[in-house]
Amino acid sequence: MADELQVLSNAHFAQVAEGFERSPISKQLATLAGKVFPLLTLNKNQHWLDFGAGTGALSVPLAEYVGQVTALDTSAAMLAQLSEKDVANITALEQDIFGGLSETYAGVISSMALHHVADIAGLLSCMHQCLDEGGQLALIDLYSEDGSFHGDNAGKGVVHLGFDPEQLLEQAAKVGFKQLSYREIFNIKHKNGRSYPIFLLLGRA
Ligand SMILES: C[S@@+](CC[C@H](N)C(=O)[O-])C[C@H]1O[C@@H](n2cnc3c(N)ncnc32)[C@H](O)[C@@H]1O
Repeated sequence: MADELQVLSNAHFAQVAEGFERSPISKQLATLAGKVFPLLTLNKNQHWLDFGAGTGALSVPLAEYVGQVTALDTSAAMLAQLSEKDVANITALEQDIFGGLSETYAGVISSMALHHVADIAGLLSCMHQCLDEGGQLALIDLYSEDGSFHGDNAGKGVVHLGFDPEQLLEQAAKVGFKQLSYREIFNIKHKNGRSYPIFLLLGRA
């Protein structure tokens, strides 16, 4: 099941990778770094993991504040767009996080990737395991929606129609995260005329 999902997700992102950052939604999400980073503790001694980094909407600005960013994604096409930016302290890692990671990180950040992952409890557990003690967690995704945000959810490898952050917070607590909180961080204006709120969930390992 997870493999099938991965094939769909990778096929979708292979099609859209080249123009991804030009889409009106990506342009709105490009403002996220400025809203999220002031809520994190960032310094040049840190190594962060960006899960589902894509073309680097968060990795690229994050690399200005920390020592090293590992941009993990299962889509070679999305990572190719990121690699073209040639940012010295970003390493693109085409890998499934469930395969295990060889390093630990001061922080894990992720934007708009969770809704592509079936096993959220397992993902949170992997994130907890790859964080240093006290390491920071920052997850961004859609609040629960009716499926209209992506439209062809199945075809795009979307497995969650957003999230109830309260439930996500409970799942994060179960795998050991502490100091958990969430807030609405942005509202995406969609071409369908509707607005879709997105949340930022923060925690510490
Ligand atoms: C909507 S894009 C968001 C990209 C970037 N974070 C941003 O905000 O622009 C979702 C990304 O998650 C990646 N993705 C989907 N499933 C994944 C998985 N299981 N592991 C890692 N990345 C995944 C996709 O390949 C895609 O690049």
